[in-house]
Parts: sequence; structure tokens; C-alpha cells
Amino acid sequence: MSKVTVVGAGNVGATCANVLAFNEVADEVVMLDVKEGVSEGKAMDMMQTAQLLGFDTTLTGCTNDYAQTADSDVVVITSGIPRKPGMTREELIGVNAGIVKSVAENLLKYSPNAIIVVISNPMDTMTYLALKSLGLPKNRIIGMGGALDSSRFKYFLSQALGCNANEVEGMVIGGHGDTTMIPLTRFATYKGLPISNFLSAEKIEEVAKSTMVGGATLTGLLGTSAWYAPGAAGAFVVEAILHNQMKLVPCSVSLEGEYGETDICCGVPVILGKNGIEKIVELPLDEAEKAAFKASADAVRKVNGALKEVGAL
Ligand SMILES: NC(=O)c1ccc[n+]([C@@H]2O[C@H](COP(=O)([O-])OP(=O)(O)OC[C@H]3O[C@@H](n4cnc5c(N)ncnc54)[C@H](O)[C@@H]3O)[C@@H](O)[C@H]2O)c1
Repeated sequence: MSKVTVVGAGNVGATCANVLAFNEVADEVVMLDVKEGVSEGKAMDMMQTAQLLGFDTTLTGCTNDYAQTADSDVVVITSGIPRKPGMTREELIGVNAGIVKSVAENLLKYSPNAIIVVISNPMDTMTYLALKSLGLPKNRIIGMGGALDSSRFKYFLSQALGCNANEVEGMVIGGHGDTTMIPLTRFATYKGLPISNFLSAEKIEEVAKSTMVGGATLTGLLGTSAWYAPGAAGAFVVEAILHNQMKLVPCSVSLEGEYGETDICCGVPVILGKNGIEKIVELPLDEAEKAAFKASADAVRKVNGALKEVGAL
């Protein structure tokens, strides 16, 4: 029996749980939230789609009752506040650090062997906080941001190419922030061929820029941060782990010399399997990409510094 817990049954958490159930990724999915009745209500609503959509996963919800999450294989943390239009992800740190830390500690009491997927923002810093405060091996702490940003990159690429998003490949590495993420345009392909065969340098630059502000564009349209793609990206990462898919996905992970960085969690390509991070893949970055990664890591490190200021570390 496989079990996944999603903490935070808001927009992202509920969508993630819904995708996990619909795709029958786990036998059991538990949602937990602090808001009385919300997880229970959403779980019941989703269970009433089981017959319509034809899935067998059991979904339950609970209000802050961690005993219900016991023996989860993977736990997903989405609890915290999302950004509003005009806000950066980094501005959320004061509130979200306290929430993420206490939620992670509570989860581990009941699921000591779980792999932890962090989604709450600022995600790289929240992943670093989990790594530093929980004392777990680094393969079990995974920040989800690159899966989403890469999916957005592929969307904008497909729009520019006039094709289906499944026809293109591309990855986004670096920090999960509007100015820190790095769409790897040089490595992106359309049917295995470099995109430079099909798009002008200006168009490629435009795609990269749209990707970087992809989250902010949606926040402007929706009045709060997006949830369909973030929730699906969370479920995608959980599935790769739970089903031991050995998928290559950019995730925020602890770096110990890889990409020239230490004492940081930042987005790099990793192989995801049953142990969480099975391997960090080092790409042959050129000088400009290396400089962009260093600048990105420096920016993430600066935000991490605020963890001490807010008393979280
Ligand atoms: N990493 C990414 O790619 C990515 C993408 C989108 C959103 N996010 C982040 O995910 C987080 C959630 O976004 P959202 O849109 O779902 O927000 P939301 O407000 O819809 O949901 C958050 C939920 O967390 C709950 N919560 C708060 N404190 C809690 C606690 N201590 N224990 C349990 N639950 C608690 C709230 O009651 C709420 O239901 C935000 O921080 C957002 O910035 C990350």
C-alpha cells in the first residue's frame, strides 16, 4: 500500500491531491490543513468524482491531525501563504518559514521514513530550512520548482513553435524566482533538434523571459498565485519517486560542490526514484550559463540569510 500526504489543502495542495488520485499514483492520499473542515470537504468532493473519473485511490482529509498521515511514503508541503500581485516569492519568508518548519517536524513524527517534497515559497529557502532543521539525508528533501518552471518553458516554446508542448524538451535550473531561474535555451529541443533551427535568437530570448515571469503573469491575472500547473508538477515529482521512474527532473536539492556551490538548495537536474534524489546530473554549462547559475545561487543564498533574522534557523 502506498500513501502520500499533502499538507495545505488550498489551491496548490488540493490540485496536487486531485491529480495524484485521478492518476492513481498512490493507493491512499491524505490532505491536512489547519482550516477546520476544508480538507475533509475537499476530499469528500474529490471522492465523489471517483466513479465519474474511474479512479480507485482513497482520498481523506483531516484538520491538523497528524496521526492520520502516519506511514506516508511521500509528504508534500504546500502550507503557507501564496503571493499576491506585485509581491515576490521572497517576501513570504517570515510567515512561511514558521509554518514549513513546524509542519515538517510534525509529519516526521508519524512518517519517519518519508521523502519530503517542499512546494511552499520561497521554495529554495524553505527546502534549505527543511534540510537544516530536520537532519535527514539530503536525498529525502526535494524542492519542487523546476518541474513547474520547465513545464512553463515548454508551454512558451510550443507557443512560439506552433506545436504541441509534448513535442519539445527543455529544462529550467537555478533558483525558483522571477529573476533567478535559468531557462536552458541552448539545451532545448524540438523533436530532438536544437530550437535554434526553428526560432530566431530574439524569439528564444522572448520565450526565456516569458518563462521567468510566468508565475507573476498568472498572479496578475488571477489575483493569487497559480495552482493547476503547480499542483500537477507536485504530483509529477511524487509519481517519479513513488513509481521509481528514474526521471530526469530539475529540482531544488542540497548541493555539495556540484555546480560549484555548497551549503545551499538550488534547482539542478536530478534523477528521481524510490530513494528520492538518486543522482545529481552535472551539465556541461558554458561560461554564460555558469555565471547565471552563480548569480542565481548568490540570490538564493541572500534569501536564506533571512532565515536567521526571522529566527527559523
Ligand atoms: N514551488 C512552486 O512551484 C509553487 C508554485 C505555486 C505556489 N507555490 C507556493 O505554495 C504555497 C501554497 O499556495 P496556494 O496557492 O495553495 O495557497 P492557499 O492559500 O490556497 O493554500 C495554502 C493552505 O495552507 C494552509 N495552511 C496554512 N498554515 C498551515 C499549517 N500550519 N498547517 C497546515 N496547513 C496550513 C492554509 O489554511 C491554506 O489552505 C504558497 O507558499 C505558494 O507561494 C509554490
